[in-house]
Amino acid sequence: MIDRAAAAPPAVAPFPQARPRRLRASATLRRMVRETRLTPDRFVLPLFVVEGAGVTQPLDSLPGHARLSADLAAQAARQAYAVGVPAVLLFGVTDRKDESASGAHDPGGAVQTAIAAIKDAEPDVVVVTDVCLCAYTDHGHCGILVDGEVANDVSLEVIARAAVSHADAGADVVAPSDMMDGRVGAIRSALDAEGHEGVSIMSYAAKYASAFYSPFRDAAGSAPAFGDRRGYQLDPGNVREALRECALDVGEGADVLMVKPALPYLDVIRAVRERFELPLAAYSVSGEYAMLKAAAAAGDVDERAAALESLTAIRRAGADIVVTYWAKELAPWL
Ligand code: PBG
Repeated sequence: MIDRAAAAPPAVAPFPQARPRRLRASATLRRMVRETRLTPDRFVLPLFVVEGAGVTQPLDSLPGHARLSADLAAQAARQAYAVGVPAVLLFGVTDRKDESASGAHDPGGAVQTAIAAIKDAEPDVVVVTDVCLCAYTDHGHCGILVDGEVANDVSLEVIARAAVSHADAGADVVAPSDMMDGRVGAIRSALDAEGHEGVSIMSYAAKYASAFYSPFRDAAGSAPAFGDRRGYQLDPGNVREALRECALDVGEGADVLMVKPALPYLDVIRAVRERFELPLAAYSVSGEYAMLKAAAAAGDVDERAAALESLTAIRRAGADIVVTYWAKELAPWL
């Protein structure tokens, strides 16, 4: 039974005294009473990085994006920074894969090289790195296999080593996306042991086993060779479990929490916002972007308006930070 008295909204005058349209009568009035505003300082731009120089490999699955070598990633980061986007999120893409994901912590790897190049080109840009093993394992899972299963504790060691290698290269923030238990704590201890107590952890705390990641997996070459990720990523039906994941990550020393994907999970963003005080990021994932790009290409929606509306909704739900493939394109329009 709903307690009507407790649930009653604050008193308002009835029509015709009340006419909500009064405050919608002009663009200036609407601007004045707008509750949620999008600004580029909330955006993080994902970048896919590869080895080499002068390399651009356009991505059909993510129109407007390409895999870039370090020099061109630095250029992209500088351009994004120039239009007001403070941060980039780096993903490494490589053919050098093995069962121990050794490429993930290679000091000469694409990510490690790109971090240094970006910091060199634009020292003020915040460099965030995705920390995961899926792009480096020969089977595409986010951890190390033992007897055919993704083994949690063995994976932690490699994940922590990858995070330290990013910090060594100059990353400001590391963002573990593997969903192994205990990874935030393992990364925090490893960073601190190596003198990186100033490097932050943005934890993909509530990362769901989502169908909206496919364009990304194409881009990163990180689709699992067998099975799926439901043994470690969250079930889309669950929200209490997401809150438990967040509580664990806060306890292990996360500096920023993240919910991912964003648009189909606005209720999760809201629930995390209400329960936790850390800054909250939401990742508007590749499928959200690709879906609108396709609808716009078919002439069904106005891309810019639909993108702005989607990102505004993500902010309205409670996200402080929005990771979006539109960051660079939209920033000049805000
Ligand atoms: C790595 C990772 C993924 C994404 C971010 N980090 C893919 C996955 O979990 O399979 C998805 C991002 C996107 O779809 O834009 N584990």
